[in-house]
Amino acid sequence: MTPIKAGYLSHHLEALDEMAIWKELSSATKSRIAEIEIHSELDSTNSRLMALASCNSVPTGTVCLAEYQTQGRGRIGRVWHTPPGGNICLSLLWRFKNFDSFSGLSLAVGVSIAKALRTAGIEGVGLKWPNDILWRERKLGGILVEASGEAQGSHAVVIGIGINVHIPSNRTGDIDQAWVDLDQITTGHPPSRNQLIALLLDELFLLLQDYPVRGLQSHIEEWRQWHCQVGQKAVLHLGGKAIRGVVSGVSDDGLLVMDCDDGGLRQFASGDLKLRAYD
Ligand code: BTN
Repeated sequence: MTPIKAGYLSHHLEALDEMAIWKELSSATKSRIAEIEIHSELDSTNSRLMALASCNSVPTGTVCLAEYQTQGRGRIGRVWHTPPGGNICLSLLWRFKNFDSFSGLSLAVGVSIAKALRTAGIEGVGLKWPNDILWRERKLGGILVEASGEAQGSHAVVIGIGINVHIPSNRTGDIDQAWVDLDQITTGHPPSRNQLIALLLDELFLLLQDYPVRGLQSHIEEWRQWHCQVGQKAVLHLGGKAIRGVVSGVSDDGLLVMDCDDGGLRQFASGDLKLRAYD
């Protein structure tokens, strides 16, 4: 790892540390991780692993972490702000053999993140469709799953996770939605990032090893238990249209079910959902 530049880290947070992460991992995860690379600064951990994915010598189970991303990417072409200060930007490269049905994977990853946060002592986390991690209706984290082309019959997927741990007060203006970080939630005593990363990796590796067999179906009921917007009035922005209604839930295959103001229950595979209070 390149040395962390002065001012990159809030004084009360420890630096990302491979040995500290390694120490906390379950032995099953240890046996599946190919490599953990830690960067002080990177354009985007997802972009790096997507670029490496086409290279067959980069194995499944490669983990990429960065203290700071200069061009972090979010869903639907958005910017993901990870200013210096101490956040979590984690990407994992996973190669699936003879399996190409990833549509529900990001929802299942949401469940993994919610569970890891709960194990780390963070109460009150909820999931917003399709893949936002919320705390009291404010965004704590997000997921960006990207699939790269085929290489010799296998499909490479990059799972990117961003979690706000400490957003410096002079950088909050960059973020254009209601947000929260672990520092605020825990009033200045966030869990160790290295420990939380190990918990996230334990959950992710558990999920990935049998996702091709069990698929989203075996996670959707759990996703519903974390879903925090059922019954709320919302607007789904989709293809230039604003569809108003009440969030009803998610279907077994992970589609958003909305009771639309203009007539009945409809299912949606994509879109940007906003509560009406924020519209
Ligand atoms: C979203 O909510 O829009 C998804 C945000 C995903 C951000 C993470 S941070 C690690 C990885 N690298 C990126 O550039 N994006 C993802």
